[in-house]
Parts: sequence; structure tokens; C-alpha cells
Amino acid sequence: MRKPFIAANWKMHKTIPETQEFLSAFIPLVKDVKDVTIAIAPPFTSLAMVAERLKNTNILLVAQNIFYEEKGAYTGEISPLMLVDIGCKYVIAGHSERRQFFYETDDIINKKIKAAQKSGLGVIFCIGESLAERDTGKTLAILQRELEGGLDGINPEDIVIAYEPVWAIGTGKTATPAQAQEAHAHIREKLRSLYGNKADELCILYGGSVTPENVDSLMECIDLDGALVGGASLKADSFSRIVKFRKEL
Ligand code: PGA
Repeated sequence: MRKPFIAANWKMHKTIPETQEFLSAFIPLVKDVKDVTIAIAPPFTSLAMVAERLKNTNILLVAQNIFYEEKGAYTGEISPLMLVDIGCKYVIAGHSERRQFFYETDDIINKKIKAAQKSGLGVIFCIGESLAERDTGKTLAILQRELEGGLDGINPEDIVIAYEPVWAIGTGKTATPAQAQEAHAHIREKLRSLYGNKADELCILYGGSVTPENVDSLMECIDLDGALVGGASLKADSFSRIVKFRKEL
């Protein structure tokens, strides 16, 4: 059985005081949740503070980005060792905003995943098609290319896949459960060809305008094992409702 995995991706949101306020409300709301892996990816500037607050809780700390070298003259970058040092358990790689605004290619993403794994970090690896790609019938081919490129030479230990259709991110347009299941099943199939039966143990998250209102129906999909949540993770009550999917209906 795959344990559901629900992660908050805060992107470039929240100062330290705002983060403290969120955690004071959120930690008690989810303290009794045992059957879901809960994770939060705050901006780099509050990682140290959040690491401290998450000690002895059921919430994992995630970094939003990583560089693939261990150290050196790379102004502005953060190494895998630094993320481990500060208490991160996972890092996000391949997010469409990094692909789009920071020109990250499948090859760069692959290097980041390798570097993360080498230092013992788990990876939330994002893939997903644009609207133009969906409209021209290329969705499954794009997912295949991104999976093969990103996972080249990678063992599946501590890899979580996040299917995030670009047209659904931050737009309020969610994939229907049928659209999500089709993509997730395809991803699982591809993972099976790469990793055999191990593919059945890997979590495939859905991301793209997940809300308290739509999380329950999405989580019904057989190959959908959790969510990567942006906008709706910024408020403690909304994110805790997503973490407690199906349970408060
Ligand atoms: P969203 O973002 O929930 O605001 O659509 C999801 C993501 O980009 O991870």
C-alpha cells in the first residue's frame, strides 16, 4: 500500500512572521494525522526557522530547489549538503515554473535529482504538459520524455512523482479525475517499464489547483497517491482540510 503524500509548495510566498503564524495554526490541526505523509516547502529564507518548528512533529521539511554541485563558485545557489544540513528531507525538482522561467532542461533536472539522491534527499519530481501540448494530443509523449530524461540513471528510492499539468497550475482549472487518472496510469506504466514491480510502491501526486473542494474526488483515482498544493496550501485551515482528504466529508 502506498501511503498518501500531501505536500505544500509555497513558491515565493510568506515572510518569517507569516510562516510562524501559519505553523502555529497548522501544526495542531494535523498533529493526529498518521496515515498521510505531510510535507511543506517554504522559501529558502525560512527553512532554518521552519526546521526548528517542525522538530518532533509529523511534518517533513522540503526545499523548493537545489543546485547539483556540492560546493564552489556558484553565486546564489544552494547545495544538496546545505539542504541536508538544515534539515530538509525532500527537494522539488522539475517544477514547470523552473522549466519555464529558469530554463531548466531535462538534463539539468536529471543532474539535480542525482545530486539530491547522492546526499540522501528524497525528490518530488514534477512533470506535466502545457495546454498547447494537450490540445495537440502530445500529453502522453511529453510525460514520457520528461520521465525518461529526468530519471535517466536514477534509482527509484525516495522518488515521488508529481503530475502537474501546466494549464492547471495557479489557474483554478483542475484536471478532471478522469484526465488525472489517465495521465497517472500512463506514468505508472512507464515507471513499470523502468523499475518493474517497484513502480507499484511509488507515489504519484497530482498538482494543479488542488483545493479542499476537489481533493476528495481526485484522491478517489486509483493511481493518484497525493497532492502537491500551491495556492490552497498558504492557509492553515485550507491546507489541513486537504491533508485530511475524505475524512471531513
Ligand atoms: P497550485 O500550484 O496549487 O497553485 O495550482 C501547484 C504547484 O505548482 O505545485
